[in-house]
Amino acid sequence: MHELQDKDFLLEIIGKIQNENRRKPKPKPVLLKISPDLNNHQLDEVIEIVKESKLSGVIAINTTVSRDGLQTGNDKVKKIGRGGLSGLPLKQRALKTIRYLSEKSGQAFPIIGVGGIFTPGDAKAMLEAGADLIQIYTGFIYEGPLVVKKINKYLEKTYKSA
Ligand SMILES: Cc1cc2nc3c(=O)[nH]c(=O)nc-3n(C[C@H](O)[C@H](O)[C@H](O)COP(=O)(O)O)c2cc1C
Repeated sequence: MHELQDKDFLLEIIGKIQNENRRKPKPKPVLLKISPDLNNHQLDEVIEIVKESKLSGVIAINTTVSRDGLQTGNDKVKKIGRGGLSGLPLKQRALKTIRYLSEKSGQAFPIIGVGGIFTPGDAKAMLEAGADLIQIYTGFIYEGPLVVKKINKYLEKTYKSA
């Protein structure tokens, strides 16, 4: 859905959501989840949208349509077909996107970092790139639920002694 990456279109949808939300007795935080396939100009627009629409933050990043840098051969990748790719291939892209948004916005809004987190070290790298919270999806499936405990223990130890 390319129009979902068009600034004016997004401002219109988000404006309507925010109007509905504000009418509720307890408005909910509304965050914008972004694609990993945005260029820097589009990321600048995301920053403007968050500010103009008074969103509560950004979730970076969703799955990608890109197939770059995979170890699996081209033929097999083609056979698997279209669809969003998640997990390890997203990690560097997620870190880069979060770092850009955090620095360019001057940490103007919270960022939830997601994409390719499998280990405690991955979680720390996310926070260091500028994420305020992290989400784990594919890593949870491959590593199992205990990975959350491992990450929390490691982060607690790391930031307590810092
Ligand atoms: C099977 C599957 C279903 C997903 N469904 C949603 C969804 O409904 N809404 C959403 O915002 N993101 C969805 N995602 C994207 C994830 O929330 C996450 O942004 C992405 O997978 C990158 O994180 P990961 O590398 O930890 O999986 C889905 C991802 C997968 C793999």
